Amino acid sequence: MAYSKFDFGEDFHWGVSTAAYQIEGAHNIHGKGMSIWDKFVQNSAKIKDGSHANVGCNFYEHIEKDLDLIQALQIPNYRFSIAWSRVLPNGIGEVNQAGIDFYNRLIDGCLERNIIPWITLYHWDLPQALEDQGGWTNREILNWFEEFATLCARSFGDRVSNWMVLNEPMVFTGAGYFLGYHAPGRKGMSNFLSAMHHATLCQSLGARILRNELEDARIGTTFSCSHVDPFSKDEKDVTAAKRFDALLNRLFIEPALGLGYPLQDLPIAQRVEKYMMQHDESLMHFDFDFIGVQNYTREVVKYNWMIPYMKGQIVNADERNVPLTTMNWEVYPKSIYYMLKKFNSYEGIKELIVTENGVAFPEKVIDGRVKDLDRIQFIQSYLHQVLKAQKEGVNVTGYFLWTLLDNFEWAEGYTQRFGLIHTNFETQERIIKDSGHWYKRFLQSARVRN
Ligand code: NOJ
Repeated sequence: MAYSKFDFGEDFHWGVSTAAYQIEGAHNIHGKGMSIWDKFVQNSAKIKDGSHANVGCNFYEHIEKDLDLIQALQIPNYRFSIAWSRVLPNGIGEVNQAGIDFYNRLIDGCLERNIIPWITLYHWDLPQALEDQGGWTNREILNWFEEFATLCARSFGDRVSNWMVLNEPMVFTGAGYFLGYHAPGRKGMSNFLSAMHHATLCQSLGARILRNELEDARIGTTFSCSHVDPFSKDEKDVTAAKRFDALLNRLFIEPALGLGYPLQDLPIAQRVEKYMMQHDESLMHFDFDFIGVQNYTREVVKYNWMIPYMKGQIVNADERNVPLTTMNWEVYPKSIYYMLKKFNSYEGIKELIVTENGVAFPEKVIDGRVKDLDRIQFIQSYLHQVLKAQKEGVNVTGYFLWTLLDNFEWAEGYTQRFGLIHTNFETQERIIKDSGHWYKRFLQSARVRN
């Protein structure tokens, strides 16, 4: 390996990320309310293997053991999310003390082990009680989210100083309210545009609440992003790629930076104006301390006049003769470099932190061991691009791997294993994969050099 952890700088934040619904299980105990994912998975046809995460990795009951694993791997930062319906079973109103206690145990467990906790407020599991009233399509969500964010800040802010407001708003509004293949399974442009606009407003509103409650907190939010290339140099493909880039990579970050929505390059979103009120343009803006960059692959886009709205389509990676992951995503390390450069070029960006990067490949446990050399190579090649961007002046200050342990991959169920740790979902046994051991060595080597 041509570089070590040391090359990224002494204060670089190395970590690992998870999300509540994907790992916690305990979906209906100790007072937890139902979330849109608890409901969505009841229709097993929606999930590739017909599964659900009612139990998942049962992290709820294994926090001590799993935090021990993070400590054993010597990972200094741990990013997790708060299940809204665990702390507020109906989304608003009565607080579930058992839920607060659980996150208190989690935070205290991190601190006792010298692991720095990073909280994501919202990682896709809206309380079903709120969805029943329109969910993200209802502007009332601003009040609901304010209550949730305030509760989290007041309950956990005495011990947690790193916060992210939303996880990948493009994905939860796009897949959940436009395409219908994520919870709550709603479709269509009106659902999408209203959800998108309210998520944009909550992104900055949540940040303002955190700032008011917790003066010294480091406040960010996260975005999914994929470098977009046109299928050919044909002008029509180039225009289609530009539209997709606006949709995938600009729609949520630009309003946060005070630039408004990129409507010129994304005419289909112009109808968002129907949902906008007088001061929304300025309310969408917040001076974030950092932007979370979440990158896995790139997209290639081809013009197609038959596609409504977008006039172009993504050419699937498995039709392009490129290296693939089991998600059918192209392995394309340069994507993370391009995205860091692109986000860094906006005025007003203070810090970029890679809050997710990782991969699922085919793998097997043989004699109690998972030899996932391909994952190690994947991480090394993406990290190399992160370093390249940093050396060229991009202020990237952290890197969090997705993910700690194999878990419930949304509509893909348990078919995709992204973990540094193998989970046996029947016995809840964990096995540190070779990639986990590698990450530990990588993180330790710099300590020695320091
Ligand atoms: C993005 C999401 O935040 C996370 O929940 C998901 O599991 C990973 N990417 C992998 O798809």
